[in-house]
Amino acid sequence: MWGTSRRTLPAGVIPCKSDAMDMLKRLLALLGGIVAARAAWQLLAPELRYKGPSPFLAGAPARAIALITGASSGIGETFARRLAREGYDLVLVARRKERLEALSEDLKRRYAISAQPFTADLTYADDLRRVSDIVAGLSNEGQLDLLINNAGFGTVGHFADLPLAEQMAMNQVHITASVQLTRAALPGFLRRRRGAVINVASISGWTPMVGNVVYGASKRYLINFSQALQAELDGTGVFVQALCPGLTYTEFHDAPAYRAVGFRRDSIPAFMWQTSEQVVEASLNQLGSDDPICIPGIHNRAVVLISDFIPRALFREVRRRAGL
Ligand SMILES: NC(=O)c1ccc[n+]([C@@H]2O[C@H](COP(=O)([O-])OP(=O)(O)OC[C@H]3O[C@@H](n4cnc5c(N)ncnc54)[C@H](OP(=O)(O)O)[C@@H]3O)[C@@H](O)[C@H]2O)c1
Repeated sequence: MWGTSRRTLPAGVIPCKSDAMDMLKRLLALLGGIVAARAAWQLLAPELRYKGPSPFLAGAPARAIALITGASSGIGETFARRLAREGYDLVLVARRKERLEALSEDLKRRYAISAQPFTADLTYADDLRRVSDIVAGLSNEGQLDLLINNAGFGTVGHFADLPLAEQMAMNQVHITASVQLTRAALPGFLRRRRGAVINVASISGWTPMVGNVVYGASKRYLINFSQALQAELDGTGVFVQALCPGLTYTEFHDAPAYRAVGFRRDSIPAFMWQTSEQVVEASLNQLGSDDPICIPGIHNRAVVLISDFIPRALFREVRRRAGL
């Protein structure tokens, strides 16, 4: 029967093979449509859904406090400026004292808020404990509204060649500090039934890459940590976000490790870069929604979406051209 043409079949006999093939084709087309629609939604949804104002910021009480780590430059400084404009009082944490003091003075003058600089190196357990005590105290007193675990840095080189101490310090700043500070904030947040934590991860957490072994793995940790924690906190009024920026114009790539290899921002196409303002806007617009993952920029979401299909050799080549 198989292979018999439709024309020669006796009346009443069903041409099973061609029907089955038709059905299979339709099924595949339907599946393809669903996958394409889902991909398009993933790419476009944040721009369509989170146009602001932020549902979380809209409900902020008067004289709420935000504590930001890594506030002396880049994304952390931009969070500080934006939140000061929203009327938040601030605690600003980083190592560079003069930078923090200058920023605090500037923000107090411009926005009539209180801004407290706090010098700490989060690679040191004692410093981290001091910051953690501040977070717990402010949260228990019902004053802390927003914790932003943003401090971070990158390194250049293969894992086997890099000093282990530096990689362990990275885990301490990215993972240990974020986990410890989040834990310190939660009891107060849960009692108030309000509060939010933003953990600044990276799209590197979605794209395992040569030369980025511990950096990418530590950011992946923050993504999984935030996703699972948000699932535990659903319905409590407390929100956790993993903010996953792609390449962003900050001081991140001015670090000595990048200068030593002659890294140039213009070796990577301009459309791949965002400003810290764009990153912070996307994060705050989405905060308080049901989606704990924020990937600012369609191009970054496209990279994440297809990352499993991008040949590793292409990532290697991009980094090679950038001198990394
Ligand atoms: N720029 C990008 O392309 C990009 C992309 C994806 C994700 N990110 C992430 O975004 C976050 C912010 O980075 P950025 O781009 O804004 O770079 P940045 O301008 O270099 O800012 C990094 C901040 O982290 C602080 N920091 C670093 N090590 C610290 C330590 N041991 N203790 C306390 N504070 C420390 C720095 O302050 P001090 O030096 O004064 O201590 C600075 O305020 C990082 O977590 C980074 O991984 C950046």
